[in-house]
Amino acid sequence: MLYFTELTSLVLMVLISIINGAPPFAGNNPIKIQPDKLVVEFGTSASANCSINTTHHGMGWEASQAAVQMVDNVQSLTWKVETLTHWDINPVCYVLADADEQWHLQLQVTVYKHPDLVSISTVSYTGPMIEGRQYELQCDVQNVAPVRLLNVNWYKGQQLVQSDSFTDETKTPVSKTMTLQVSTRRGDDGVQYRCEAELKLGPEGPQPPPRVTSDPLTIRVHRNNPIKIQPDKLVVEFGTSASANCSITTTHHGMGWEASQGAVDLVDDVQSLTWMVETLKYWDIYPVCFIFADAYEQWELELQLTIYKHPDLVSISTVNHTGPMIEGRQYELQCDVQNVAPVRFLNVNWYKEQQLVQSDSFTDETKTPVNKTMTLQVSARRGDDGVQYRCEAELKLGPEGPQPPPRVTSDPLTITVHPNELQEFCVIT
Ligand SMILES: *[C@@H]1O[C@H](CO)[C@@H](O)[C@H](O)[C@H]1NC(C)=O
Ligand SMILES: *[C@@H]1O[C@H](CO)[C@@H](O)[C@H](O)[C@H]1NC(C)=O
Ligand SMILES: *[C@@H]1O[C@H](CO)[C@@H](O)[C@H](O)[C@H]1NC(C)=O
Ligand SMILES: *[C@@H]1O[C@H](CO)[C@@H](O)[C@H](O)[C@H]1NC(C)=O
Ligand SMILES: *[C@@H]1O[C@H](CO)[C@@H](O)[C@H](O)[C@H]1NC(C)=O
Repeated sequence: MLYFTELTSLVLMVLISIINGAPPFAGNNPIKIQPDKLVVEFGTSASANCSINTTHHGMGWEASQAAVQMVDNVQSLTWKVETLTHWDINPVCYVLADADEQWHLQLQVTVYKHPDLVSISTVSYTGPMIEGRQYELQCDVQNVAPVRLLNVNWYKGQQLVQSDSFTDETKTPVSKTMTLQVSTRRGDDGVQYRCEAELKLGPEGPQPPPRVTSDPLTIRVHRNNPIKIQPDKLVVEFGTSASANCSITTTHHGMGWEASQGAVDLVDDVQSLTWMVETLKYWDIYPVCFIFADAYEQWELELQLTIYKHPDLVSISTVNHTGPMIEGRQYELQCDVQNVAPVRFLNVNWYKEQQLVQSDSFTDETKTPVNKTMTLQVSARRGDDGVQYRCEAELKLGPEGPQPPPRVTSDPLTITVHPNELQEFCVIT
């Protein structure tokens, strides 16, 4: 019965070593390493003992740091470093059984490093958040190893709200930036978020596992932005004047306007401040009124500004064709609109006499003037002889824009349609 159990366990060991990729005789590997797994902080000391009970012709340690030369009169040999300075180290204990046989066993070493810094911040946003919106928080973890054992945990107050891990096999220290989406509720005013870098080093590692936590980030949630801009939307022709007033009813420690043109320096004894330009000369301009509520809180509000330009030219022509059109055939008309902005508000309207026959619009977000060429398919009918086509560029600038909306129309294109002689011939026959 005992014999049977031993045989079973031997077969099992051989099987396990085959699965692990070691040579089959490793099932009989008489080497023992104590401890068989090491979790070591980079820069600290580490050691393990290799031992064997059988007679042999020498044993030693092979390692990128602190290798031990072969000796032949011992049953146990220690690998030891005072200061581990290798990230990827795989010490192997080997024993020469005789001239033909050698055993070896690898010590598993996990080298870790606490992060230098764990910090939390808001992404591209300073100042109070507005109720009911989405914001992004960011956690920066600097110089940590190994990243595959790292967990980045996010806490809202005491509650774990998200945990991120990594599959990266890098053994040397890396820095990681993770993000968390938060949506703000009124009750969240004053809530603290923290992120934590945790190294899950397992039972061989230090207990509890190393954790480094960021300073807390206290979020302020306001019901509404107290800044008002009058008017809040402005539609201005490029090269003309523009102005808007920023105002606040609460006390503050200074207000100003930030803009590539017409910026206003901080002033603190007013409740309203005007942004003004005589001749608007930038296409990409984002005037922002900012107000310091106190030393820590800053409010901002951007003026919604649309800058437009009438097209220099709107012209209509036939594509690849001159002279009269032949009845029953297809032709293409082309409308060229030169130097118009912004194209996302442009409509190109096609008229046959007084009737609108097609209207084209654009999704392009370009703010600077562009050229656009549109086409219209027409089939020549006998009754169309002498008909006039026109195209029109219309800027749909909305209620804040000039009324009626700016429209520039091409000269008319008069088409001549000749009867299809082949068809006439057929009809007569
Ligand atoms: C290794 O062996 C030495 C001597 O027998 C002993 O003092 C030491 O504690 C052992 N170390 C480990 C890690 O087992
Ligand atoms: C060697 O033999 C002793 C006594 O039988 C045992 O306690 C020890 O674990 C053995 N060591 C190895 C490496 O097999
Ligand atoms: C801005 O305020 C000034 C002074 O209070 C006023 O004269 C002007 O009309 C206001 N402009 C706008 C666009 O509201
Ligand atoms: C117009 O004609 C030219 C030369 O025959 C040809 O290369 C071009 O593709 C034509 N364009 C259209 C829109 O048919
Ligand atoms: C539009 O076309 C005109 C005339 O061909 C040209 O001078 C101008 O550079 C073009 N503008 C753009 C933005 O491509």
